[in-house]
Amino acid sequence: MCGIIGYIGNNKASETIYDGLRRLEYRGYDSAGIAVVDNNQIICKKEPGKLSDLKNLLLDTFPSDSTIGIGHTRWATHGRPTTFNAHPHGDCKNSLMVAHNGIIENYIKLKKNLLAQGHKFVSETDSEVLAHLIEEKYTGDLKQAVLDALHEVEGAYAIAVIHKDHPDKILCARKNAPLLVGHGTNENFLASDVTPILPYTRKVTYLDNLEGALVTKDSIEFFDLTDGTPLSKESVTIDWNPVAAEKDGFPHFMLKEIYEQPQVIRNTIGGRTSEEEGKIYLDELGLTGPEIYRTQRIIIVACGTAYYAGCVAKYLLEEMVRIPVECDSASEFRYRKPLVDQNTLVIGISQSGETADTLEAIRLAKQMGAKVLGVVNAKDSTMTREVDGLVYIHAGPEIAVASTKAYIAMLTALTLLALMLGKIRSVLTPEYVKEKISELKVLPQKIEQILENTKPIQEIARKYINAKSFLYIGRGVNFPTAMEGALKLKEVSYIHAQAYAAGEMKHGPIALIDDKMPVFAILTKSDLYKKTLSNVEEVKARKGTVIALASEGDEHIQDVADNVIYIPEVSEVFSPIINAVPLQLFAYYVADFKGLDVDQPRNLAKSVTVE
Ligand code: F6R
Repeated sequence: MCGIIGYIGNNKASETIYDGLRRLEYRGYDSAGIAVVDNNQIICKKEPGKLSDLKNLLLDTFPSDSTIGIGHTRWATHGRPTTFNAHPHGDCKNSLMVAHNGIIENYIKLKKNLLAQGHKFVSETDSEVLAHLIEEKYTGDLKQAVLDALHEVEGAYAIAVIHKDHPDKILCARKNAPLLVGHGTNENFLASDVTPILPYTRKVTYLDNLEGALVTKDSIEFFDLTDGTPLSKESVTIDWNPVAAEKDGFPHFMLKEIYEQPQVIRNTIGGRTSEEEGKIYLDELGLTGPEIYRTQRIIIVACGTAYYAGCVAKYLLEEMVRIPVECDSASEFRYRKPLVDQNTLVIGISQSGETADTLEAIRLAKQMGAKVLGVVNAKDSTMTREVDGLVYIHAGPEIAVASTKAYIAMLTALTLLALMLGKIRSVLTPEYVKEKISELKVLPQKIEQILENTKPIQEIARKYINAKSFLYIGRGVNFPTAMEGALKLKEVSYIHAQAYAAGEMKHGPIALIDDKMPVFAILTKSDLYKKTLSNVEEVKARKGTVIALASEGDEHIQDVADNVIYIPEVSEVFSPIINAVPLQLFAYYVADFKGLDVDQPRNLAKSVTVE
């Protein structure tokens, strides 16, 4: 999705902004641009394409040494990726520039009015109306013009505005799209997320809905967008290391993030367990004992990979807490007529904490009286500010568009939650919890064993790079693993892949089986092993090709499957965490061997902040 960065200070703005845009690449984009104020003039350069191709235009030959400017990476929604549609957008007189994330829902009506007033539009975007609207309202006071313009706007926005008559300030504002400012020394920043400014400052302030900021070199003033009154806001210190946001020697962020997973599990568990007492501590949970006892139902809402983490959690929570659990795609939940009351606990799961559908789903649940818990990665994201309680997953910044380490961290955090709730509701004994805590703590080592030798996975991946379609099958708590494995392969390799509960094979999908349709079977040790094995034998009987994910020591599987990936054995409740790793690696290597852009797959964006 689109990214914004703004800079004002003593350094050449285009250099800092280009560097920031590069760090925003992970969000997905198809064009980029930079605008600065120079000698009471606006200078703007923008083009479709990748930043590596735009380096000459935006950095090497950028025609200004100005120290104030804004930049944008655009992911096309309204209008194709063209030079005119790229941001920042200007007004008729080239006196101001606006970079915008989000969607202006009433832009057609606004544009019609502005056209009638004589404004000339050059793009097909909804965003350009903002520049003309601010131009229309401007009588010398930029802040007032922005306020007046935004009062007429419906929809979602994070905006940054510069004006030729105000070479000392950047205006920014937000509604339903993320925005923050970064506090430096003799310089200040604004950005749509923290990644682009981390190398310069760790002190940031997140804007809330309907808030704005006037950013100068030496000061940042916050104000309410409804009436412009000043606001006092706290800053937070981000402890993410800027190096963590770099590739660290790996060819792709996706691979680096897969390799970070043992550490991520340690971070997620860190300081939250007492093995001696069999206790779990989730400090930000925000649920009282009576609220936990009162809970009669749990509903999980999320999208994509986070949704599959929720599907795994359904199995864990039902087993460990003995409460009925539903897991719903947030985009479905928000548009059906869900049954939710004060005794329902709704859990929203999100890496970014900014996914539009998930946010709307939790807002709906709150309105209906439910307690809402967020299982979130991005600190101080919108979701963290709207929920009643939190479980941070502590995965650190995830840069690759395809989610890997956040999934593993979600599963780990949700396992802690299930153990904690199960213990409080006296379903689980302290002995059981103790045993599971000690098993959880050795999971990172077991994943390290997989990562130490990925050759067998690479060899199998190489064999299948020309496959047109895959089936993934699994049962029980590993049916969602199959769904997540299929999603990973689709996303990064562009090979069609579909997941089925293995028991469903006879009810239709087995008709697809021939020697061209590989079947990836999750066959690690479990109570349902024999059942899944018989599904695999049915596939073989129809000349299908099988890749089996199996536990070390399972020799029989070699006689049945064409290819076997062995991984260390763990108890079934933890198997989704470890099983996801070879599936991620398989998808990664297939895509890499095909020479694809693994970190930024086509048509995908990291953070889906519009529905
Ligand atoms: C898949 C992927 C997406 C996200 C989904 C939800 O690899 O990254 O499916 O999982 O868009 O995003 P968050 O977790 O940020 O709400």
